[in-house]
Amino acid sequence: MPILSALTKFGYKNVIKKMAFRNDPEETHDRFTETGIKLGKSNLAKSLISFAWAYQDPILTQTIHGVTFPNPIGLSAGFDKNAQLLDILPSIGFGFVEIGSVTGEPCEGNPKPRLWRLPKSESLVVYYGLKNDGAEAISKRLKGKSFAIPFGVSVAKTNNVACAQVEAGIADYAKAFGAFTDTGSYITINISCPNTFGGEPFTDPERLEKLLTVIDAIPYTKPVFIKLSPDLSFEQLDTLLDVVARHRVHGIICTNLTKKRDNPKIQDANVPDKGGLSGKVVEELSNAQLKYIAEKTKGKYILVGVGGIFTAEDAYKKIRLGASLLQMITGMIFEGPQSIGDINRGLARLLKRDGFKNISEAVGADLRHS
Ligand SMILES: Cc1cc2nc3c(=O)[nH]c(=O)nc-3n(C[C@H](O)[C@H](O)[C@H](O)COP(=O)(O)O)c2cc1C
Repeated sequence: MPILSALTKFGYKNVIKKMAFRNDPEETHDRFTETGIKLGKSNLAKSLISFAWAYQDPILTQTIHGVTFPNPIGLSAGFDKNAQLLDILPSIGFGFVEIGSVTGEPCEGNPKPRLWRLPKSESLVVYYGLKNDGAEAISKRLKGKSFAIPFGVSVAKTNNVACAQVEAGIADYAKAFGAFTDTGSYITINISCPNTFGGEPFTDPERLEKLLTVIDAIPYTKPVFIKLSPDLSFEQLDTLLDVVARHRVHGIICTNLTKKRDNPKIQDANVPDKGGLSGKVVEELSNAQLKYIAEKTKGKYILVGVGGIFTAEDAYKKIRLGASLLQMITGMIFEGPQSIGDINRGLARLLKRDGFKNISEAVGADLRHS
C-alpha cells in the first residue's frame, strides 16, 4: 500500500531512526530482533504489516533450481543470525532469507563494541566475528517448521583458535553444513567473513579445493552457494573460479563486507580499524565483482547481488549486471522496513517500463554479449 509505506518511511526517518541511531547499534539490533520475534507470533500483526508494506507481482517471481522465490529481495546473512525472525520476515515483504552465518560450534563472537554506524557514508562497520548459537541449536530450532518464503543457511567455521587450523576449520564447516542438509532451500558457504581469528584462509585456492572436496562428499540435493569478499582482485577471482568450477557449487554471492579503508566512499571521520564495511561503501566493489563474474561465467552460476541496495534503481542495476537474486541489510536499517516493499514495487515498474515480462528476462541485460 504505497500511502502506508510513505507514511512509515516518514515516521521511520524522522522519528524512529533518529532515536535508534542515538543508541548503541548492537543493542538497537537486539531490541528490533526482540520486537520482530514478538510480532512474528501474532497473526494480526503479520497481516497488518503485510498489508501496509509487502508488495507482490508475478513479474518478480522466479523458480531457480526448483525453489520458487516470490520476489528477488532477500535478507542477507548476519541480520537473523540465529533464525529467530523467519515468522515475521515474509510479512515485511522479503522474497527469501539467509540465516546465519551458523558455525559448527556456538560462538560468542568478538568482544564488544563490534558494530558501528557511519551515517555520512551510509554504511555499517561490522566486527561481530560470527556470533551465533551454533549449528546444533539452530537446526533444532528449525526442525519440522515451514515458512512462507524460502530460506537458505549461511555456514562458516567457528571463530576460535582451533578452527584457524585448516583441517579443523574444514571439519567445522562440514559439521555446520551437515546439520542443515534436511532444512531450508539452499546452503551458502561463507568464505569471506572479514572478522575471524586467522583471517580468511579459504580464499587460498588449495585450501578452498580441500574444503569443497569435503563438502561435495556430504549428501545434499539442494543448491550450494559460495559467498565472496569484495576485496579479491580479478586475478584472485580467476583462480578461485577455477576451483569452484570443479565442485558442487550452483551459485555465487557477490559480496560480503569490505575491509579496505582507502575507499573514497567513506565520508565519516574516525572509522574503527577493525571490522568490515557494508552499504554504500561496498556497493561499487560488489557491482564490479558481480559484472566480472557474470561476464566470465556466462550463466553457469546463479549470481546473488548484495552490497549497498537502498532503492529499486540500485536493485535493478545488479539484476542488469547478472544477479538473479539480491540481498540487503544496511539499506533496510537506513531507509526503514518498508523499503523492501518499495524496492519490489519500483523493480516491477522498471521491468515493465523496459518491456520485460519477467525479472528473469532482465538478468544480465547490461552485460557484454548478453
Ligand atoms: C550486522 C551485520 C552482520 C553481518 N554478518 C554476516 C554474517 O554472519 N555472514 C555473512 O555472510 N555476511 C554477514 N554480513 C554481510 C552481509 O550479509 C552483506 O554481505 C553486506 O552487509 C553487504 O550488504 P548491505 O550493504 O546490504 O548490508 C553482515 C552484515 C551486517 C551489516
